[in-house]
Amino acid sequence: MKSTHPQGSSHTVAGRVLECLAADNMHQQWLLLAACFWVIFMFMVASKFITLTFKDPDGYSAKQEFLFLTTVPEAGKSREEKRFAEDPKPTGRMPPAAPLVYMERLELIRNVCRDEALRNLSHTAVSKFVLDRIFVCDKHKILFCQTPKVGNTQWKKVLIVLNGAFPSIEEIPENVVHDHEKNGLPRLSSFSKVGIEKRLKTYFKFFIVRDPFERLISAFKDKFVHNPRFEPWYRHEIAPGIIRKYRKNRTETRGIQFEDFVRYLGDPNHRWLDLQFGDHIIHWVTYVELCAPCEIKYSVIGHHETLEEDAPYILREAGIDHLVSYPTIPPGITVYNRTKVERYFLGISKRDIRRLYARFEGDFKLFGYQKPDFLLN
Ligand SMILES: *[C@@H]1O[C@H](CO)[C@@H](O)[C@H](O)[C@H]1NC(C)=O
Ligand SMILES: *[C@@H]1O[C@H](CO)[C@@H](O)[C@H](O)[C@H]1NC(C)=O
Ligand SMILES: *[C@@H]1O[C@H](CO)[C@@H](O)[C@H](O)[C@H]1NC(C)=O
Repeated sequence: MKSTHPQGSSHTVAGRVLECLAADNMHQQWLLLAACFWVIFMFMVASKFITLTFKDPDGYSAKQEFLFLTTVPEAGKSREEKRFAEDPKPTGRMPPAAPLVYMERLELIRNVCRDEALRNLSHTAVSKFVLDRIFVCDKHKILFCQTPKVGNTQWKKVLIVLNGAFPSIEEIPENVVHDHEKNGLPRLSSFSKVGIEKRLKTYFKFFIVRDPFERLISAFKDKFVHNPRFEPWYRHEIAPGIIRKYRKNRTETRGIQFEDFVRYLGDPNHRWLDLQFGDHIIHWVTYVELCAPCEIKYSVIGHHETLEEDAPYILREAGIDHLVSYPTIPPGITVYNRTKVERYFLGISKRDIRRLYARFEGDFKLFGYQKPDFLLN
């Protein structure tokens, strides 16, 4: 396993410790507050949900991690029967993507990984940070790299059920999904070096991506604007940190704007702040940094934009389609929305957008997303 790439060198032991302390402090502080204001919080949640339901402009951000996977109730149903029942797609829908598409995705990754000019943007060390992102289902030999804002909670629930900690997806309490002490879904980092290498070599490995800029917009909305989960540290600790360093107009006192976020992400020296934010950065660091796609040979890369075809394909390839199924994804919900992207970047300087693209170029190239020239020129 590689561990000495130049990009990984900033992840020193001291840095790691700092990172942990920062994250721990944030959590403890806020947990205490949460306890004190429990009653008020419950009230807020109730009222927030009510307003969200009615006000959310595109009806999507809060429900991003929609349910697209449920367990198959009739476990006795044979594989053949099920295939036969599901295969004829309703007319007017795209046919399922041919496996060729998935081969081409892997081929593209192989080619981009070999491109020396993009080396710094496509390669990363398989560090503890990466191994922490990967969840393990030993029973079915599956590794899943978590990339927030593409329906990951549902995939995690599937693996939790497959691992046997809960009998069905519906029975997993919402607070347990992300509690890795209780959910029986180990991280790859929790195994020995030999155990890690064995699993990386032999297991089915996958993760899901989406357009890199749309993903950042989604993360911004979900963490700094709505934040449907109770995570006040994003707005009250992380946002002020970003504003202090990156706000252009010093007399502007509004809360964090997308422009501040873009300037932070596009700064070549962003790591200085990243260390203070700890693992919360998983919502906006590149897919390269999260999953190391050039170092780990993934079996399938799913695209959020074609999840209707990709989710069942992943289930089939992982050999679990007879155990779990997927309900219909609401039409249009995963489609790339250029109008939305344009609106978010409106008024942000070309220089800042180009710097942002320069950082995320690896993600655009590796996963075949078109360069957003309409923002850059
Ligand atoms: C990649 O990063 C290294 C060290 O950070 C730097 O010296 C090198 O010039 C970079 N290469 C490219 C092609 O940007
Ligand atoms: C800076 O922000 C203040 C307060 O919102 C605003 O009145 C002013 O026009 C802004 N200046 C520039 C240069 O945008
Ligand atoms: C795209 O985004 C815009 C702005 O957020 C929204 O008004 C529009 O309804 C969206 N279009 C689709 C097809 O979802």
